[in-house]
Amino acid sequence: MNQAKLHQFIISNYLDLKGNADVDSLFEMRLTANLTLIKDLYFTLYPEDIHTASFKKLVRTLADLFQERPSPLKLQDLKRQEQGSWYQSEKIVGMQLYVDHFNKDLKGLTDKIPYFEKLGVNFLHLMPITPRPKGENDGGYAVNSYHDVDSRYGTKKDLAALTKVLRDKDMYLMLDFVINHTSNEFPWAKKALQGAEKYQGYYYTYPDRQIPDAYEKTLPEIFPMTAPGNFTYQPTIDKWVMTVFNNYQWDLNYTNPEVFLEMLKNLMKLVNLGVDIIRLDALAFLWKKLDTQSQNLPEAHALISLFRMCLQVIAPGVVFLAEAIVSPKEIIKYFGADQTEGNECEIAYNATFMALLWDAIATKKTVLLYKNLHNLPKKPREGTWINYIRCHDDIGLGFEDHYINDIGWDARLHRKFLLDYYCQSVSWSPAKGLMFMYNPKTGDGRITGSAASLLGLEKALAENNPVQIQQAIDKIKMLHGIILSYAGIPLIYAGDEIGTLNDYSFLEDKDKKEDSRWVNRPNQDWDTIANLEKEQSYHSIIFHDIQKLIAIRKQNPIFADTNNIVLYQCSNPHIFIYERTTIGQDGILIVCNFDESVQLLEQINMGPYGKSAQIKDLVSGERINLVSGKFVLAPYQLCWLVCD
Ligand code: GLC
Ligand code: GLC
Repeated sequence: MNQAKLHQFIISNYLDLKGNADVDSLFEMRLTANLTLIKDLYFTLYPEDIHTASFKKLVRTLADLFQERPSPLKLQDLKRQEQGSWYQSEKIVGMQLYVDHFNKDLKGLTDKIPYFEKLGVNFLHLMPITPRPKGENDGGYAVNSYHDVDSRYGTKKDLAALTKVLRDKDMYLMLDFVINHTSNEFPWAKKALQGAEKYQGYYYTYPDRQIPDAYEKTLPEIFPMTAPGNFTYQPTIDKWVMTVFNNYQWDLNYTNPEVFLEMLKNLMKLVNLGVDIIRLDALAFLWKKLDTQSQNLPEAHALISLFRMCLQVIAPGVVFLAEAIVSPKEIIKYFGADQTEGNECEIAYNATFMALLWDAIATKKTVLLYKNLHNLPKKPREGTWINYIRCHDDIGLGFEDHYINDIGWDARLHRKFLLDYYCQSVSWSPAKGLMFMYNPKTGDGRITGSAASLLGLEKALAENNPVQIQQAIDKIKMLHGIILSYAGIPLIYAGDEIGTLNDYSFLEDKDKKEDSRWVNRPNQDWDTIANLEKEQSYHSIIFHDIQKLIAIRKQNPIFADTNNIVLYQCSNPHIFIYERTTIGQDGILIVCNFDESVQLLEQINMGPYGKSAQIKDLVSGERINLVSGKFVLAPYQLCWLVCD
């Protein structure tokens, strides 16, 4: 039982006894229930003999922060707590978007709520809307403030209006908390640049290269082409500052407990705007230690759990998403392992699954996908995934080499093949992607491009090739059918629901042209959307397909993530097949063909569905007859089968 379950138990008993919600007493109870954990985590990071006073300050701050939480949100917290793992519901379907690329600003976004409703989306991830430096700012991931609204998006009032509408409609909002770094224009950084030692101590600042050089021996480079190295010289103070991402993103120094406390306050100001899910950006990097890669360190986990345990006391209805794009066995730890089990993040990006789906598309085989999934550690019961195909970032091939070798492929060459396939190095490939951060030293590279372009639509349209156009549409539908049926929250990337192609306009912008991730950050095409019901186009086919899949998902509680997913072994290497199960009833069998030709699935590979007298495909609405014990799948066909 994790702490969240414990709180659920406490509140259910308390409400039985009192019949009404005394929010203040419930806060006291939560504090009591979490205090020992908070203390232990705190003193793990900040030794007790030096930091007792700051610990006491933290505890007093929790009470102050609770007082600042708006009443409607306090009540919502209780509702969510009673409900338990609300984020595992089949009813949640998400979309990620840039507010300005979507529809101008926050007001423009609010105007488009009917569009989300029409598609079936009820959970929004807005890319950073906080103030940022002019010029390069990593798409807003260099923050000048954690809770103000950048004027290009509107005002705090506009945000409050949006969150109110979302709440009234039972929709959810996710915003980023860029927890690892601030911009070089953040007030603390500015004061540090003016020479204030206190604020220099909020970052990793060094008078010479000695420690930076020692760090560089083991720190990897995130943006080797545009921001090589992990430290940036600041001439005004004659010091080096740690900047793991871009040179204008300064890493926060969490070995300083004041930084933790101030960041907790910043987090609460953000959460109090009415945010339901906080995306903890780049959280794997939170703790740095010499002679390590300074990623996924145990102290980083303790720190996240400390944030979690504090937030749970103040705002128990708010949950965390881990943006940990790291190896599979490391990702899983962000749900909390060992002493923090179940007490870190409720949600994590299923980055491995995403990358493996792209592998299966390129190879037309599901063997590497299966190999990895079979070996993935189990996530805790209360955790869930964000399942996605594309997001604003690049696609990193973060699965492990030894599984590639195990299935008889050469890992290095296989990775090269994937880059060749997606980044236009082989003429036969339908994909039109771009290379991101190719590192000639290591041969590593990542992939950018919109889902539709990576799946062949851009090239097929240019060549006016109807067969390829159809295949691209089928692939788009199939991959969405997977994220909508796999255990977790599906997160659609805005534009993908109408097959938006690559946007090359970034090449004309001096602040963007070095960062090819902008190719997959297009503007929402409202002219096309206006015609979705009027004319038959690839846009309207894709939109209506996805809309229908969403509707089916929401009608079937079996799609809630209760850890009810079973992978089926299959003798055909092109097919991916899994079941969403439920106790005492028939489930839903998801079957996909990753190949461009017809494939046969043996009846005996279909479990009870193969033996059933009648099966029906929810996707096409058709009854299926097995022919001589074989199930025939068209190229890139997706089926959601039920016994009829
Ligand atoms: C995350 C964001 C990415 C950003 C990085 C640094 O990975 O998704 O866009 O560049 O953090 O903040
Ligand atoms: C973060 C992510 C990584 C991504 C990078 C920039 O480091 O973990 O996958 O490539 O940000 O996009």
